[in-house]
Amino acid sequence: MLEVEEKIIEILSKNLEELEHAQKTLKWLLRIKPDASPELRIAALGHDIDRVVEPWKVIDYNLEKEFRMKHAKRSADFIIGFNLQDLDKDKLYNLILNHEFGGGEADWLRDADSLSNFEWYDMMFEKLKAEDSESGIVKMFERMSRENRRFIDEIKFTNKEAEEIVKSLVKND
Ligand SMILES: [Fe+2]
Repeated sequence: MLEVEEKIIEILSKNLEELEHAQKTLKWLLRIKPDASPELRIAALGHDIDRVVEPWKVIDYNLEKEFRMKHAKRSADFIIGFNLQDLDKDKLYNLILNHEFGGGEADWLRDADSLSNFEWYDMMFEKLKAEDSESGIVKMFERMSRENRRFIDEIKFTNKEAEEIVKSLVKND
């Protein structure tokens, strides 16, 4: 394991839900892109690190796109401060910066993040408001590339309602 990976895991360990989300994002990344570069793998682990370093304040949903861009930049700025040895720093920075909306190789990261988020909504469904889960799931689905949507079939849902929402999106796609 690279020093930067150990460092990211150490920081995420302060919040086990975030650690789990990061590890699941890496798991899905390796499923959809088994030959993922080290920069992609590290981006998968660290893309949301800002949420642990400095917890999010109130979200204004009218500014959601702007907010998500800010969040991605905060994480990218943070990771770039680590000892990155031989890694391609610009590539890593841009991957994290673009993880919400994709673009080039960041499409893999965005899609792995969506798959990981379906599992998160499945786990959190009873704690969240149903309409918030539903709109979150729809967003995660719509931003995915068509070719990677086929991996949704591999998710093992535990919550029936979350499963219904996701399955109907797949069916009507
Ligand atoms: Fe994420």
